[in-house]
Amino acid sequence: MPVDPLEYRQIFGGFATGVTVVTASHAGVSYGMTANSVTSLSLEPCLLLVCFIRGSQTLIAVKEAGWFGVNILHADQEDISNTFARTTGTFDEVAHTVDPHGVPILDGSLGHIVCRLSSVTDGGDHEIVVGEVVDTGPSTRADTDDSPLLFFRGKYRSMETR
Ligand SMILES: Cc1cc2nc3c(=O)[nH]c(=O)nc-3n(C[C@H](O)[C@H](O)[C@H](O)COP(=O)(O)O)c2cc1C
Repeated sequence: MPVDPLEYRQIFGGFATGVTVVTASHAGVSYGMTANSVTSLSLEPCLLLVCFIRGSQTLIAVKEAGWFGVNILHADQEDISNTFARTTGTFDEVAHTVDPHGVPILDGSLGHIVCRLSSVTDGGDHEIVVGEVVDTGPSTRADTDDSPLLFFRGKYRSMETR
């Protein structure tokens, strides 16, 4: 019997993760995608991977630009996560800067990682993007609160009880 995809998704929802926004810009437009399929892949060399749903606008920008960023969200950035969980999400009301490679960096995250695109591989209904880490930045928060935004069983969580 083939595995039921919905059952598989439900079971895998028990694997708690942090939440990131993956960013890129192309032809003067910035794109962002909320993603939790981010994994540190290698230390020597420093590599990470992100799985993009096929058709993602951000994936198109990543491929065109050859550069992308991973912004690790703070617990108070749930609204930003929701903004970039929609294809129509824009940077209009999201405070950010742009790094020398054209990669948008969100203000107030727990840290960011800038990557040069290394490879894109088929992964079923997703594409697996590997990036070579070329720069990292620490938290840009004025406070010392480093609570991460978490995702578990289809809901946002934080380290504190909600
Ligand atoms: C918590 C959370 C995690 C997500 N993780 C991923 C992911 O890892 N890969 C992915 O393709 N979509 C993921 N999504 C869905 C995308 O954010 C959504 O499809 C988005 O609209 C894609 O935007 P784009 O088409 O502008 O790139 C996630 C959504 C949420 C709320």
